[in-house]
Amino acid sequence: MAAMEEKQTKQVLFLCYSLSGQTSRVLVRLAEGLEEMGIHVHTERLRPVQPIRFPLGSIRTTLAMMVITFFRTRVPIAPLSEKSYEKYDLVIVAGPTWSYHPSGPILSLFKFEGLRLFKNQAVLPVISCRGYWRMHWYGLRHLLKKCQARIVNRIVFSHPIKEPWRTVGVFLKIAGKNPERSKSLGKFYPKYGHSVEQLEEAFRFGRIIGSALTDGKSIEEINFQTSTALPKFPTSKN
Ligand SMILES: Cc1cc2nc3c(=O)[nH]c(=O)nc-3n(C[C@H](O)[C@H](O)[C@H](O)COP(=O)(O)O)c2cc1C
Repeated sequence: MAAMEEKQTKQVLFLCYSLSGQTSRVLVRLAEGLEEMGIHVHTERLRPVQPIRFPLGSIRTTLAMMVITFFRTRVPIAPLSEKSYEKYDLVIVAGPTWSYHPSGPILSLFKFEGLRLFKNQAVLPVISCRGYWRMHWYGLRHLLKKCQARIVNRIVFSHPIKEPWRTVGVFLKIAGKNPERSKSLGKFYPKYGHSVEQLEEAFRFGRIIGSALTDGKSIEEINFQTSTALPKFPTSKN
């Protein structure tokens, strides 16, 4: 009986990379939402062969990284665990936007394991970014289609801070400057990354996905493009 229940439990695989912890924060709550609905989640983190430290440490290194990543440079990753190749009801492939593209470790994953992991597989991409994700999405969608994946929807979380502070703040944070602690910048840039409300939204998304999987309903119809996940900001001061 227990074995039968185990068999019926829906299985979700997270294939993910996170440099500064933001994708991970979102995924932790997403997994908790799924698990609350009785879904089993296996998380497989992509590990660069040569670890990339965060913050990068200087303005120069950050600028160099932005240029390198703009050219969609792949970052070699360590082999995945055998569990990644088991059968899953849904695969969530998640990571940050790097210079308008998927991050280097995710690009490596597609290059070397894409077909094996994604062919005929239901896949839900999750993107964490400061705000500019469309090109990343188009690129990711292209890579998934090439692997004959079945893309069931997309989830995007952007940082909830107004421009230009968001861009300036993210850049300085990556360089290791802690803009949120600066007297002048801190007023406009109180925090790097996603808000607590967004993490709760991720939890809610997890529950909705979990119940859709359990009830055999479509994930395609779910609206993940909420104003909490993807806040829109007026260009003038409000
Ligand atoms: C090298 C680099 C390039 C980035 N380029 C973009 C970009 O083009 N668009 C964007 O919205 N965010 C960009 N970001 C910001 C990250 O996508 C954002 O901070 C994300 O939340 C980080 O997720 P992580 O902590 O999981 O790595 C970039 C970050 C880095 C390190």
